[in-house]
Amino acid sequence: MSAVTQPEVRLLGRSEAVRTILADIDCAARSGAKVLITGETGVGKEVVARLIHERSARSASRLVTVNCAGLPDSLLESELFGHVRGSFTGAYRDKPGLLEMAPNGTVFLDEVGEMSTRMQVVLLRFLETGEIQRIGADRSHTRVNVRLITATNRDLPKEIAAGNFREDLFFRLNVIRMHIPPLRERIEDVPTLFEHYLGFYCDQHRVERPQVAQGTWDALMTYRWPGNIRELRNVAERIALKSTGPVLRPTDLPSELMRGSDRTAVTSADAGAAAPQQSSQVDELTARMLRHGESFWATVYPLFMSRDLTRNDLRRVIEIGLEQTNGNYRLVVALFNMPNEDYKRFLGFLRKHNCHLPFQRFRTVTGKSHGGTRPVAVAG
Ligand SMILES: Nc1ncnc2c1ncn2[C@@H]1O[C@H](COP(=O)(O)OP(=O)(O)OP(=O)(O)O)[C@@H](O)[C@H]1O
Ligand SMILES: [Mg+2]
Repeated sequence: MSAVTQPEVRLLGRSEAVRTILADIDCAARSGAKVLITGETGVGKEVVARLIHERSARSASRLVTVNCAGLPDSLLESELFGHVRGSFTGAYRDKPGLLEMAPNGTVFLDEVGEMSTRMQVVLLRFLETGEIQRIGADRSHTRVNVRLITATNRDLPKEIAAGNFREDLFFRLNVIRMHIPPLRERIEDVPTLFEHYLGFYCDQHRVERPQVAQGTWDALMTYRWPGNIRELRNVAERIALKSTGPVLRPTDLPSELMRGSDRTAVTSADAGAAAPQQSSQVDELTARMLRHGESFWATVYPLFMSRDLTRNDLRRVIEIGLEQTNGNYRLVVALFNMPNEDYKRFLGFLRKHNCHLPFQRFRTVTGKSHGGTRPVAVAG
């Protein structure tokens, strides 16, 4: 069906690590114990949680996912446990929490490492008693039978040592531990994953699937993939959107993948190449903006103004932004977490420092770039 936008949940890969994870998923699915999934961003923690649920005896009931990051305490507590009418402004009626809405099912608490200390106490109390106390209620409302799966990209023992995470909560959550290694440590999974997502997005965007040239495989296999499989998936989609012709050459890859393999291919007369020793700084800065939601003004701008970032590095950052947005400066503003009103200021700044790159060479041939390019998807 052409309306399908998400591939089905699958854990692809032929590495030993993936085989072990698949076996661990089956094992975890057979038991009802809590699971703590750890690993860097984009490695597949949510995929694993979903597979455990789907393969477990609870699969006939719901899997409810709650992201603990970015929600203020009161909202997170209300999401999880519900509230009673009048417990806070805007609480017009009693509302059940998500824990109640998955009876005999699974609750996946994503980014549990981001929970405030107060919410950690609330969660701990629930884990000890199984009782749900809605916000504003003076006693427990009901008990629920849910299985808890949690995930985090933080190093929880380190967070415990730093006083940010409760050790007793960690012990409760850490019954079955599954650690998913980053893609760079199981690089043999890249061909399977890339073929899969390239085929998927070429079908979705109705373009011919290109043959992947050997040099392109070399670049894909030497890249470090800091955003892991999510990044690989985004790269595959960008390539499908660009519809580069029957053969996918190394020069068709986004330039961050090309660094170190064919540097000249990614430079333009205007942009110049980033100095090799600086590339990690550019990587770090773009990761902070694309993955952690930090603003250009707080990351790149001060470093450039204090001359800790060279003009070539700034151009590299802009180049990456233009590649992600098919050459659309307005989308770069959003991608780099600036408000729309900053568009003029941003362009003025780039022009002043001679870093305003011509956008034309970043435009796709197909002309359907905008529907498919979602800067936020990159931020994950
Ligand atoms: N082994 C895999 N096979 C196929 N697709 C995968 C695999 N691992 C991850 N993906 C895909 O990569 C993307 C990121 O995966 P997921 O959301 O599970 O990562 P995550 O570890 O939860 O990341 P984050 O910490 O940023 O939330 C998803 O689109 C997912 O479908
Ligand atoms: Mg996740």
